Amino acid sequence: MTLQKSTVSHTGALPTLPYYLYTDPRILELEKEKIFSKAWNYVGHTSQVAKPGDYFTCEAAGEPIIVVRDQDGTLRAFYNVCPHRATKLEKEAAGHKKILQCSYHGWTFQLNGQLHKAPNFKESDDFCSGAHCLKSVRVETQASLIFVNLDENAAPLAETYADFFEDIGQFGFLGKLKKHEVKQRIIKCNWKAFIDNFLECDHCPIAHPGFVATLDMSKYNIINGPYCNIQGSSVKQSRSDYDDAEVKEGRFYWIWPNVMYTVYPGPGNLSAIQMFPVDHETTLGVYTVFLEGDEPTEKQKELLAFTDQVRKEDVEIVELEQIGFKSRAFSQGICSPTEHGVHHFAQLVREALDL
Ligand code: FES
Ligand SMILES: [Fe+2]
Repeated sequence: MTLQKSTVSHTGALPTLPYYLYTDPRILELEKEKIFSKAWNYVGHTSQVAKPGDYFTCEAAGEPIIVVRDQDGTLRAFYNVCPHRATKLEKEAAGHKKILQCSYHGWTFQLNGQLHKAPNFKESDDFCSGAHCLKSVRVETQASLIFVNLDENAAPLAETYADFFEDIGQFGFLGKLKKHEVKQRIIKCNWKAFIDNFLECDHCPIAHPGFVATLDMSKYNIINGPYCNIQGSSVKQSRSDYDDAEVKEGRFYWIWPNVMYTVYPGPGNLSAIQMFPVDHETTLGVYTVFLEGDEPTEKQKELLAFTDQVRKEDVEIVELEQIGFKSRAFSQGICSPTEHGVHHFAQLVREALDL
């Protein structure tokens, strides 16, 4: 997808979502059921489960999940829950194992999810014959990114975010990246406020001085795709400090409902930004940075400091916005023509919630 031409979906002022959707705890319950438990949930990068026996644990739609590369090399995902009496099976964030063992009564499972041994059922020889397996979850991979979906009937991953995968596929370094760092931040806003913020750059000249000093904002463009949004621009001509092997643009992606990816100018890099609702007015932001190589170079360190600064600037404004959502002054806002990404997201939320 080219970002050369401005795409604006409307010319007048269109309404935002009504503000009660950002302040009512009942709406979050509805969103869990109608949005998060039906969507593809990004959970990690293929480098995190490169070899048979590698695993990591995560959450998808509030469910504990384990993603594992089994002995045959097949990537699998399961609810991280023991079939015996529900104990969370693996406690560690990541590791390497030949067999998975529950810490309560010691049931063991093969990496393909089959029950291996159930010590407290020694007398029943046929107990391990296939029943009582781990419960599997759909897992699919595109562009070295791993996703799970709790909905058996969801459309395939590649089809759901076709435009996103086509565009991000231009960065040949994705498969070479390794997880470098994870930062978490509690943000005092509804999760949708952070997404709204990401989907427009009207705020960039005001909130992000370093960002607009680096990218050519006269060419900045924002394009809506089905279930995704792609935006970015090249670095300013005056910035000659990027060599040919480096990325010379900023590219920013959002995919429905709560995940964003950023590629910043500089050495090959990708950040995944996940916004997990904690409650209706609190969000856990998880920022995972992937880089090439093992030890960050000076240039990579500079890039990390730059992205961190931009993120901080966004957190400040969305927390101020949440204060206003609760005010009786207004019950709804308006989207400018260049806030068409915000309006697109609002439409998807309305459709998902049947509003
Ligand atoms: S709950 Fe897992 S072995 Fe009993
Ligand atoms: Fe921003």
